[in-house]
This record gives sequence, C-alpha cells and structure tokens, in this order.
Amino acid sequence: MESANHTHKLIGPFRQLVTLRELPLKGALSDEQLEVISSAGILIHGDQILEVDHYEHLVGKANDLGAQIVSVAGDHVCLPGFIDAHTHVCFGGTRARDYALRNAGKSYLEIAREGGGIWDTVKQTRQTDEAQLVNEMLQRLKRLTTSGITTVEVKSGYGLSIADELKMLRAIKSANEIADQDLIPTCLAAHVLPRDYDGNHHQYLQEMARDLLPQVLEQGLASRADIFIEDEAFGTEMAFEYLQSAQKLGFDLTVHADQFSAGGSQVAADLGAKSADHLEASTEREIKLLAESDVVAMALPGASIGLGCAFTPARKILDHGGSLAIASDWNPGSAPMGELLVQASMLATSEKLTNAEVLAGITNRAAAALGLSDRGILEAGKKADFIIYNTSHYNEVFYHQGMMKPAQVWKDGKKVLGSN
Ligand code: NIG
Ligand code: FE
Repeated sequence: MESANHTHKLIGPFRQLVTLRELPLKGALSDEQLEVISSAGILIHGDQILEVDHYEHLVGKANDLGAQIVSVAGDHVCLPGFIDAHTHVCFGGTRARDYALRNAGKSYLEIAREGGGIWDTVKQTRQTDEAQLVNEMLQRLKRLTTSGITTVEVKSGYGLSIADELKMLRAIKSANEIADQDLIPTCLAAHVLPRDYDGNHHQYLQEMARDLLPQVLEQGLASRADIFIEDEAFGTEMAFEYLQSAQKLGFDLTVHADQFSAGGSQVAADLGAKSADHLEASTEREIKLLAESDVVAMALPGASIGLGCAFTPARKILDHGGSLAIASDWNPGSAPMGELLVQASMLATSEKLTNAEVLAGITNRAAAALGLSDRGILEAGKKADFIIYNTSHYNEVFYHQGMMKPAQVWKDGKKVLGSN
C-alpha cells in the first residue's frame, strides 16, 4: 500500500489533454468538437480522477492535498486509456495454416466447412489447460498495454461445451486478477455448433441457455452474452430466442452481426443489445435501423484486414446518426493482428473518419458499447485510466497510424507502463 498522502497525485503538465467530455454518443463528430485543454494537468485520488484543468489551476489544490507531483515536462499529450471492446484473446494454438490457405484463394467459410476455422481453434483450446490459457492470454494483454489499452472485452466461444466454456471463462477471470487491464468477459457459447454435439443447432442453444448460462451468472463469470448470427453459425430466429432467454436471466446482449450476410443487426435492434459487431455486410436498411436504435455499431477492421474483405460502412453509419465503436476482434482466425489503433487508422483512411470519430470509437463510445459509464472520458469521478504520448499534438498520434506508442500508461491511478 502507498502512504496516504501519495494517494493524491498531480500528473502534468501536458501540452494537451483531450477529455472526450460532452460529446454526443451518436452521429458524426468533427475534430473541433473535441475538448482539448492546453498546458493541462490531471489530479487523481487513488483510482479516480479528481479534476482535469490547466496545470497551474491544479497546483494549489494539489499542494493543499499533499499530492505527489508527477512531472512530465516536455512535449506530452494525455488521452483516455483505450478500450478494446471486442476480442477473443483467450484461445489455444494457432491458425497460421488457415491464413495461408485464405491467401492462396480459399474463403473463410470454405475453410470452416472443411474442418478448419473456428472448430480448429476449439480443438486446440480444449487441449490447452486452464493455467496455460491464462499465461498465453496474459502475454497478449501485455502487448495491449504497450498500445495504451486499459480495458479489454474478452469472449469465450472456443470451448463450446459446458465444461470447456466454463474453463475459458474461469481463465479470463484469473487473467483479470493479474492483467494491467480490466477484462470484461462475455459468454460466446453460441459461436458455432460444435462438430461433436449430438443434436441440432436449436437443441444446442436450448441446452446452453438452460444449463450453461445460469452457472455463468452464479459463478460470477460473465454478465454479457454474445452469438454469431450467420448461415454457417446460427439463424436469426433461434438466435432471437436464445438471446431473449439470456436477457431474461439478466445478461446484457451483444451480437456478431452482418459479417457475411445481413440479419444479425435486426435481432440486436429488436432486443436492445448493447452492440452489433462486424456489420461488413450491412446494407442501407441495417444502417438505418441501427442508427434509429441505441445499439452501438462496432466496426472490426482487424477482421476485414485479416480476411481481405470490405470494411464496415462506418462513414454511412455515422452520417445516418448511428454510434460507432471500433475494436480489434483479436482472434486466431479472422483477425490475428491485434493492433487496435493501426486497424482503426486503416478504417479511417478508407472510410474517411475524423480523428475525433476514431478516438471516440475507442474510448467513450467503446465504453457505452460495454455499458460502462465510469471510463472513456477524462473528467472528475471517472477512473484514472489515461495514456501519455511523447508528442506536442494529439493529431500526431493518429498520423502515425498506431505505430506511435504511449510513453506512459496509467490504469486505476497506477502507472503500469513507462519510466520515472
Ligand atoms: O469475430 N465471426 C465469428 N467469430 C470471430 C472469428 C473467430 C475465428 O475465426 O476464430 C470473429 O471474426
Ligand atoms: Fe469476434
């Protein structure tokens, strides 16, 4: 434990601090809408932000509180810690062979039909023991720390039996106790029908809803449920029924929607899911219905890059008034890169997204997609999750397309990366 006076800290001065305060959760954003405090400081107490303001305005208060002064003199910019709101970083093995096959001309769905794809990772994950799953996950999460990510959603979905889904969710819970980030677990038992299941799609979903989901809740392993809605995975009607049962149990919902064919986003909107993710195949109709709902549209450019297919129509979603979050989808199959800001930058140049739209997509709008109101914005009362870049203007961070890495990363008021 730190001594009492050091639970208050003043960090700064920064050339710029971008708060993300008072931004609409939906619709297009111009860079002028960002609140940028110049010569800024951040005053924290324990794991929370007490105040953000011009540094000189905070010095007196900091002295009164006996705060530790953490000086970052020179060119520095402070941003909220990034939130990667859709990942599958809990997995065993590799799918390097799938990647080679895809680039030699086979499609993702063809490979899946021939026994590769998600089922291949299920076999490898089942063979990996829980401690090893935790270790491999922690290595991936360490890399995410270096990219400034302070909150990570992590899905199960490579277990696909009651015991193996519980094993994955327990591994995520264990990793959460050690990782720099907060891990937000999601149960994706409805990823695909496991090949060794003795029954049909509908029976599988009924069994998971009846026998797995209540245990997941009772054991405090997850309070979010996800499903992959696609011809090769689960159809819209049975998905609706499954998600509705999950919702009745108290789960928040999210959907893998419209990746190869449209349909999932309608289910997400009808049930008031927190987010509809992928959306590469969304048409005007789905874009409108998402924009009219409170469902956050989540683009996963890492999956487009990994599969070599079109990006989510992010510009249209924003221009129609929808909310857009951006996540990495880091997984061993469709999105093996796992570099959120690199991917968001590729999406931005292709779709023409402003820096404000990219930044909101990985901070406050990503927080909304996870139903978290305590982060993603730098203001009093929020979590002291922030990242510091060695540069004089926040535009530089985006200009370097994810290859400029933060000099410091602070999580819950503690420095988890960086010297001094
Ligand atoms: O988000 N679309 C379905 N699920 C994952 C891919 C999982 C995998 O290929 O292992 C996704 O892209
Ligand atoms: Fe995914």
